[in-house]
Amino acid sequence: MNEQFAKDVKEGLSKTSKSLSSKYFYDEKGSALFTKIMKLPEYYLTDAEFEIFQTKASEIIDLLGISAHKNFDLIELGAGDGYKTIELLKSLDKRNFHYTYSPIDISQKALCQIEENILQQLPGKKIYPRKGDYFHILHDLKKSQFPKVILFLGSNIGNMNDSLANSFLSNLSDTLSGGDKIILGVDLKKSKEIVLPAYNDSQGITSAFNLNLLTRINRELDANFDTSLFEHIPEYNEKEGVAKSSIRSKVAQKVKIKAIDLKVSFVEKEHIHTEISRKYDDVIINNLCFNTGFKVIGKLTDKRNYFADYIFEKQ
Ligand code: AVI
Repeated sequence: MNEQFAKDVKEGLSKTSKSLSSKYFYDEKGSALFTKIMKLPEYYLTDAEFEIFQTKASEIIDLLGISAHKNFDLIELGAGDGYKTIELLKSLDKRNFHYTYSPIDISQKALCQIEENILQQLPGKKIYPRKGDYFHILHDLKKSQFPKVILFLGSNIGNMNDSLANSFLSNLSDTLSGGDKIILGVDLKKSKEIVLPAYNDSQGITSAFNLNLLTRINRELDANFDTSLFEHIPEYNEKEGVAKSSIRSKVAQKVKIKAIDLKVSFVEKEHIHTEISRKYDDVIINNLCFNTGFKVIGKLTDKRNYFADYIFEKQ
């Protein structure tokens, strides 16, 4: 049994305001559903960031201010399928930059997938994948004397609340040296007519992705959630720029989770909060950098201004 998962589920479902962490979405089924989400017409985030990397890779490289003759380490946190990064690698190779590329992920499957995609598009390219926890590996990579560029794309930071994101950046900063850079991909604040459908697609894939968390609890913690008695509820607060997802109980019901010896009661329409997806603007990004040792030195957006890749420099 995954002890941390068991502990977090027990804690989250015992509170008056129930919650489960979105980090548990990504079991095998959840990861496959997320891959489908990224290809949905409503989920504009992936295409918008791909467009930035496809059309502005050279501008990104110029903003990094690295010399073409010196080595540097390009490190990607949670690399996904690597399609956006491949555009950057192509541009770096075309301009004869010297670097090593290390995608970091906790999933071996994800690392194999990225390696396969890179080899398909850049035959013969050598990469240095690292399996494990970001901070452990970054600590390890501190030994390298070369400048570092960290990629953290896909608005993954948006699944943390602002205070957590600020601590995340502080921890990241501790593993870097002055002059090192981050390329941070974030979804921008925009109207709810655009954001809400991205979290409430017409094919119901996002709903399945959210409810899969209950199926995971059934399987791993011997529970009896009937997923047909729960529904996916997306919300977006346009002013704050925060999208929230919850799972809502359609009826009053009781659920047993045997492995953690817990009986959970739901009243009709009670929510389990499962995810926040923060949307950003320049003010929020500058606040996020506060006291982390990073300064914003550049920003690139797609042509619709939906998404941005900010460049941070460690001071
Ligand atoms: C991984 N993360 C940035 C996605 C997001 O947009 O918050 C996860 C997701 N949740 C629902 N759809 C996609």
